[in-house]
Amino acid sequence: MNKTSGGQAKLVVQSASKFYDTRSGPLHALDNYSMSVNDGEFVSVVGPSGCGKTTLLWSMAGLHSLSGGAVYLDGEAVTGPHPQIGMVFQDANLLPWRNLTKNIQFPFEIKRIQPDLARIEHLLERVGLQGFGNKFPRELSGGMQQRASIVRALSFNPSVLMMDEPFGALDAFTREEMNLLVEEIWLETRKTIVFITHNIAEAVFLSDRVHVMSARPGSLASVFEITYPRPRSLDLFATREMFDLVNEIKADIQRKPGPRVVDPLPPGQTKTPAVG
Ligand SMILES: Nc1ncnc2c1ncn2[C@@H]1O[C@H](COP(=O)(O)OP(=O)(O)OP(=O)(O)O)[C@@H](O)[C@H]1O
Ligand SMILES: [Mg+2]
Repeated sequence: MNKTSGGQAKLVVQSASKFYDTRSGPLHALDNYSMSVNDGEFVSVVGPSGCGKTTLLWSMAGLHSLSGGAVYLDGEAVTGPHPQIGMVFQDANLLPWRNLTKNIQFPFEIKRIQPDLARIEHLLERVGLQGFGNKFPRELSGGMQQRASIVRALSFNPSVLMMDEPFGALDAFTREEMNLLVEEIWLETRKTIVFITHNIAEAVFLSDRVHVMSARPGSLASVFEITYPRPRSLDLFATREMFDLVNEIKADIQRKPGPRVVDPLPPGQTKTPAVG
């Protein structure tokens, strides 16, 4: 298992495999994927589109079941949505008929628990959304909406934050601002963060470690340790060192084999389901 020195494993993915049932048979999305994330670490996963990154993240968050293997958080198997895991998705997923404050409070309402209003207020202020609580999503920019979804994810004070391509829809300038914000929040809170992105430079800028996933079925292709000192400045993006590292990771992704045409049967299944 990939355990770096100095920390203790917070999250462990052990030989995770996932097959989806589709009308044309089982689709092998994730293959024997193992990773270990230490408490307070920032780990990114990069890989080509459709390789299984979201599948991995959903498995880690207990949002769907695995076909094989297991995920552990603090040594306990993750078998469903977990209160210690906050999620940020590619789309902010704000309800258009609720203002910002009511959107952030919505998960608390569903779970019938009292929101920590002081914490929410502090987080809104932290991401520069103070005074915007009564605005509706349509009145906010994409970057503001994503900042709100980060507040929503952190409002429970989870110990792990999982982010799935959170800034994919943002322009380059806003994206850089969001990268700085995420690093600042991480340095302040020392949450354990698992971050999915297509953007290799973003992954390098933010992470302690970058996992490269092969083309589907996603398996661990390589791991890059990123040792630039913190806090990192946006100037890092313009350095030769970073340029070379990003190209090295890109070349590594391109070297990996393409998708398999035929999916093997999932464990325990002996007959291919009827096509149609
Ligand atoms: N619910 C599902 N049912 C069937 N197939 C699925 C399902 N979700 C994902 N897949 C398939 O599994 C594979 C991996 O999908 P996944 O969304 O994990 O990839 P990804 O790496 O996150 O891609 P992207 O970078 O484009 O977001 C793809 O071939 C996708 O079509
Ligand atoms: Mg995805």
